[in-house]
Amino acid sequence: MKVGFGCDHAAVELKDQLLAYLAEKGYECVDYGAAAGEKVDYPVKGQAVAEAICRGEIDKGVLLCGTGIGISLAANKVPGIRAAVCSEPYSARMAAEHNNANIIAMGARVVGSELAKTILDAFFGAEFLGGRHADRVALITKIEEKYSKS
Ligand code: RB5
Repeated sequence: MKVGFGCDHAAVELKDQLLAYLAEKGYECVDYGAAAGEKVDYPVKGQAVAEAICRGEIDKGVLLCGTGIGISLAANKVPGIRAAVCSEPYSARMAAEHNNANIIAMGARVVGSELAKTILDAFFGAEFLGGRHADRVALITKIEEKYSKS
């Protein structure tokens, strides 16, 4: 699986740690930045990783900012993206199993690196369960379609 990483200036250190963690586990990781010392607004990186998923360049994304909130809000504006902010592993597993999330977002000022790793393990270790959950995800897509028409 190919995983894209994006972050703003608040989360560069955590991004580097988590990228190394997943790379060590055999995931192909793509770094969309930010780099150390670079000041980048979170919507820029949320959009970059979300669009990379839509282009098929990567399969899933990991987005990090101070809280995980801003960068996930930005990513979720891209049709087809379901970015879930998680601060513990249970929600991360549910985001994959029930919501078919294609991006996990976390806050570098919220979770420590060891907790963040367990959140990644839960997210990437789980699979979408389909069935009734697919029907609900389809309803989310319908909302997107309604507002993409204008
Ligand atoms: C940047 O200071 C901070 O606002 C950002 O990283 C993030 O927490 C926004 O949601």
